[in-house]
Amino acid sequence: MTKIGVFDSGVGGLTLLEEALRQRPQADYLFYADVDHVPYGLRTHEEILQYTDESVRFLIDHGCKCIVVACNTATAVAVDTLRRRYALPIVGIEPAVKSALAHHALRRVLVVATPVTLREEKLHRLLSRCPDHDMVDLHPLPQLVAMAEREDYDALPYLRRELAPYPPERYSEVVLGCTHFNYFRDSFLRLFPQAEVIDGAEGTIRRMCSLLPAGEGGAAGRVAYFFSGRPVTSPDELARLARRLERLRQMRAL
Ligand code: DGL
Repeated sequence: MTKIGVFDSGVGGLTLLEEALRQRPQADYLFYADVDHVPYGLRTHEEILQYTDESVRFLIDHGCKCIVVACNTATAVAVDTLRRRYALPIVGIEPAVKSALAHHALRRVLVVATPVTLREEKLHRLLSRCPDHDMVDLHPLPQLVAMAEREDYDALPYLRRELAPYPPERYSEVVLGCTHFNYFRDSFLRLFPQAEVIDGAEGTIRRMCSLLPAGEGGAAGRVAYFFSGRPVTSPDELARLARRLERLRQMRAL
């Protein structure tokens, strides 16, 4: 059975693991959260490149035949280098700007992400290829990653302050450009009740599926979890991961 590596700086990557388990239940997954170095979004380009490379190499050494970089920040910095370095399929996630612009209906699009994702050239190249890119506003939310890591979901006061300059009625789409932000989908929907709150998870996993051998049968897949190279075996940690996956399922259903 194909082994797939899903990698993020932390628990944001569970957003993509959850989607992968829906679209491709019959695979084996290795989920790798680089918890020793989270948050990436406040680190330098060189640090992110190094940590991402170490994590991906770990997944390859442990038999993965396909890698999902379940982190917008790591994708922005490292995915092109990784693809040059390693021969296996590597799928990255980018803020879903194209899909937002396809639906914006003359209202604006707000992209929220880590400071690194918003600064990196990859996003600006993507925007420059979109005809309506002047309809897009970008805003970094540097504190949400740490809040998601500590299961603090009380983000409304922070988001209200940060997003005060963006009148909700002006926006038809809010793009969650960081996989950790999905834990707070309820708060974004409260602040932008008339907008679609979207992310790139579904399309990214569709792409992953298209790169895998078709028609593998068999039982439902297994997930092995690693924190910066250490296997997660403690029942408490595994229960926390299960709780986070459940939160993401609830957020997706809103
Ligand atoms: N989950 C990562 C992303 O999608 C961000 C994490 C971080 O700052 O570590 O951008």
